[in-house]
Amino acid sequence: MATIGLIGAGHIGSQVARLAVANGYDVVISNSRGPETLSALVGELGARARAGTVLEAAKAGDIVVVTIPLKNYRQVPVEPLAGKVVIDTNNYYPQRDGHIPELDRESTTTSELLQAHLPESRVVKAFNHIYAADLTTHGQPAGSKNRRALVIAGDDPAAKETVTHLLDQFGFDTVDAGPLKEGWRIQRDTPGYGPRRTAEELRRDLAAARRYADR
Ligand SMILES: NC(=O)c1ccc[n+]([C@@H]2O[C@H](COP(=O)([O-])OP(=O)(O)OC[C@H]3O[C@@H](n4cnc5c(N)ncnc54)[C@H](OP(=O)(O)O)[C@@H]3O)[C@@H](O)[C@H]2O)c1
Repeated sequence: MATIGLIGAGHIGSQVARLAVANGYDVVISNSRGPETLSALVGELGARARAGTVLEAAKAGDIVVVTIPLKNYRQVPVEPLAGKVVIDTNNYYPQRDGHIPELDRESTTTSELLQAHLPESRVVKAFNHIYAADLTTHGQPAGSKNRRALVIAGDDPAAKETVTHLLDQFGFDTVDAGPLKEGWRIQRDTPGYGPRRTAEELRRDLAAARRYADR
């Protein structure tokens, strides 16, 4: 079974780690303060989990999840993530992240920024529009009626397949929004951002999303 590396072990990172362990993955979790600050979470996660430095999590992960405040994305190590599927959960909140002019102009998207920082990685946007607490409570087995769906976006079809499989294991259907540049359709302030949605509902939400400039 594969190892999932986590860069960021906060609300979302810890929840993805719980889902990963519950589905038989090994996890290596990391944060900005160092592995010794993650002993409580590692204790809770059990034998499949260990804490490491950011570099160790990046190296160990077959799939690596970047789940940190967007303002820090340039601190993500580049070389150990080359060739890997990198899941990007990040959102842009100017009050937290400071203003990023190209996002304010809507000339790019959050995940395209991470992809530009990690040119050899295969970035897939996922988990950005579900509240952390819902990750471990809203999942259902495949085929369940009204199963919740989550959006992905990415430029690499095989990487998207990998993430679709992971989401299915975690209890969610997937709706593919298309390439990374379409990721804005599920950013903050769009209809699909936050609420529980089936795949059909989420497709409608993506189609109804509007750029800030067009509102
Ligand atoms: N919370 C949600 O419900 C939710 C839902 C969807 C998406 N998101 C998005 O997902 C991202 C993470 O959100 P969150 O709520 O999980 O944040 P959070 O609870 O504040 O946790 C952030 C984590 O990132 C770590 N971190 C910060 N800078 C780092 C760096 N340079 N290198 C390694 N680790 C670093 C922090 O470590 P330290 O604690 O050691 O500083 C912490 O473990 C954000 O972009 C957020 O907008 C959040």
